[in-house]
Amino acid sequence: MKLSIVSQNLVLGLLSCRSGSAWKADIRADSNRDGLIDIKGDGDLQDKLEWSDKAGAIFLSNIGDTDRRCSKIALAGPPPSDEALAACNDASDDIQRSPRYMAPLMTVPIPSLGDGAWGYVRIFQEIARKNARIFRQEPSGWVLTTNDYRFSANRLREGLHLGIDARDTRRPSGWDGRAEIHFDVQNGLEESHDVVRLRVAPLLAYHHLMPVSEVLATNGNESMTPCQARFVSDLRDILDRPSINKPLWLFNHSDDVWAQDFVEPGYTSMPGPSGPITLQVMIRSSQGSRIAGRQVFEYLRKTGRGAVYSTGGTRDEVDSTGNLETIPPYEYNGNHFPAGRVIDGSHNESYPSFPHIHDYMRAQELQSPLILDTDWLAVGHVDEMVQFLPAAGTQHGWALYIADPMGGIEILQQAIKDGHGNEPAFSRPNGTIPRIAGDVPGISINEMLTDKLIADNERFAKRVDAVQAVLQRETGIKNDEIYQVPMIFTTGVCWDEAEEVSPERNCSTKHAAALYPGVLNGVVLSDSKYLSPNPWGPIINKVDVMKVATDNVYGQAGFEVIYIDDWYSHHEGGGEVHCGTNTIRDPTRPWWDVKSPPRTGEDGGRIEL
Ligand SMILES: *[C@@H]1O[C@H](CO)[C@@H](O)[C@H](O)[C@H]1NC(C)=O
Ligand SMILES: *[C@@H]1O[C@H](CO)[C@@H](O)[C@H](O)[C@H]1NC(C)=O
Ligand SMILES: *[C@@H]1O[C@H](CO)[C@@H](O)[C@H](O)[C@H]1NC(C)=O
Ligand SMILES: *[C@@H]1O[C@H](CO)[C@@H](O)[C@H](O)[C@H]1NC(C)=O
Ligand SMILES: *[C@@H]1O[C@H](CO)[C@@H](O)[C@H](O)[C@H]1NC(C)=O
Repeated sequence: MKLSIVSQNLVLGLLSCRSGSAWKADIRADSNRDGLIDIKGDGDLQDKLEWSDKAGAIFLSNIGDTDRRCSKIALAGPPPSDEALAACNDASDDIQRSPRYMAPLMTVPIPSLGDGAWGYVRIFQEIARKNARIFRQEPSGWVLTTNDYRFSANRLREGLHLGIDARDTRRPSGWDGRAEIHFDVQNGLEESHDVVRLRVAPLLAYHHLMPVSEVLATNGNESMTPCQARFVSDLRDILDRPSINKPLWLFNHSDDVWAQDFVEPGYTSMPGPSGPITLQVMIRSSQGSRIAGRQVFEYLRKTGRGAVYSTGGTRDEVDSTGNLETIPPYEYNGNHFPAGRVIDGSHNESYPSFPHIHDYMRAQELQSPLILDTDWLAVGHVDEMVQFLPAAGTQHGWALYIADPMGGIEILQQAIKDGHGNEPAFSRPNGTIPRIAGDVPGISINEMLTDKLIADNERFAKRVDAVQAVLQRETGIKNDEIYQVPMIFTTGVCWDEAEEVSPERNCSTKHAAALYPGVLNGVVLSDSKYLSPNPWGPIINKVDVMKVATDNVYGQAGFEVIYIDDWYSHHEGGGEVHCGTNTIRDPTRPWWDVKSPPRTGEDGGRIEL
């Protein structure tokens, strides 16, 4: 090792005999991911040519909307197309608006250069050149540096302080986020060449081990029934409780109440000098006809928060982002998912249909989506059948909550056995305020528990068992980390024309929808509070037996269940509380491996605001 360094120096010494001192072009990035560039030592040399998710320097898609510049432009004139709306962001031109999200690049000073020396910092690969921006600091601020910009001897002697960011994220058929930066220096007849590689950080979905920072829902507009307004007001009261205290952000001008489905909040992050630097990125579902999704760009973006949209999906329910959830971090059988793993549901049997967003998330590589069977469900979203809850002290640190159709049926069978078969099956009174559709069935438990209902739920239970087996096989989660949530499913649910549910799922006697408001379809607010739809089960001995079962199963993992009525606002439309809301969360730990604790007291190329 020592020998080779000596011989390298010898060669360099020979090459640079004219100036009498060895010099070498040396460009560095934060290749060891400690948040700093080590310019004097060798900390950033070893992984300089790495650009995998495991090692090498990381940079960010700088696609926020500082001071809502793009959003304001979009709202000021005639509505731009979906593509034009998504095309504007902080990095869509050549101005540096958010230096905080640039990664530093530095060159080692070369004091011995002659006055006529010059150098270039360039990206040669066309797709990377198009997507990555390099900036140099001038007295006027950060200035875009193109391949033909020539750095003077003076600047090279002092060492360059540069920044790099990206105009886009990794894409399924397009740029994979990799950029190779070439640094060439010419000093008289001598030349030296160096390379450093970086990769743009993946765009990641949040998981439930991260604390909620903001809850989203749809305010509803004038064409809505008052039911949504009541839901929103109840939701606000709950979130305002001192023990919860979370802000609520509302989509307005829209009757699309399914705030879970037209956007998936996510984030992207890289190491910084004082911990990870994180940009929130909202992923609009690839469902152009859901115009509420445009509000992600028009209103939800801001400084530190961007959005992306990829065309190519359809309005089909399989493409709704309620069909995208995240298994919390795990490592099993040599597969490591440090930021968790995306799950999405396929409607594969009826017709081969995978979510369009599947490819987009797969292109991010880190949370490589696992496909689960949601074909048995009428809407067909993963959030109707599985859920992940924080569970400190367990092997995985999280628990799998999964729908248990026969567990639900058994509650009714027990009630009949105990002589309560004539009690009303539902405890919710019919609504008195104007609403879209749907009455509370005024039937008894005996009348409801038909052979068909039992047989259907036996069939659904088999499908859920198969989903559970896939999750266990993939994650290694043990039976004692899995909780069965009693829930009964029904068939024959019809949708309004506007919902664009595919014909074979509309009014289907085969596909499942929650009979009682589906308690699994709620919001994990913290590691101890869970917001569930009120199931409105039968009242037996003065208690709602569905609620008791729900309290019991969530209580086992230390959760207090808070109930909210979503019967007319969401349940009647085939969804529940989770479908009708969304959450932005705070990533609690970096997605990359932290090799050494960040050093302090060094300049390290920190980019000042
Ligand atoms: C809609 O929401 C946006 C963002 O929250 C807000 O600026 C705007 O005033 C709202 N408009 C109405 C009519 O409530
Ligand atoms: C409500 O929003 C929908 C779009 O989501 C729109 O078609 C409808 O015109 C709006 N109604 C009113 C009264 O603004
Ligand atoms: C999709 O369906 C085909 C044929 O029914 C089956 O072979 C395949 O395993 C299914 N894929 C998934 C991901 O469910
Ligand atoms: C609600 O109203 C409908 C229609 O009037 C009726 O058939 C049903 O029994 C009522 N449900 C309850 C729980 O009272
Ligand atoms: C579902 O079927 C009902 C009854 O035939 C019909 O009124 C409704 O428009 C259909 N919905 C869709 C999304 O096709």
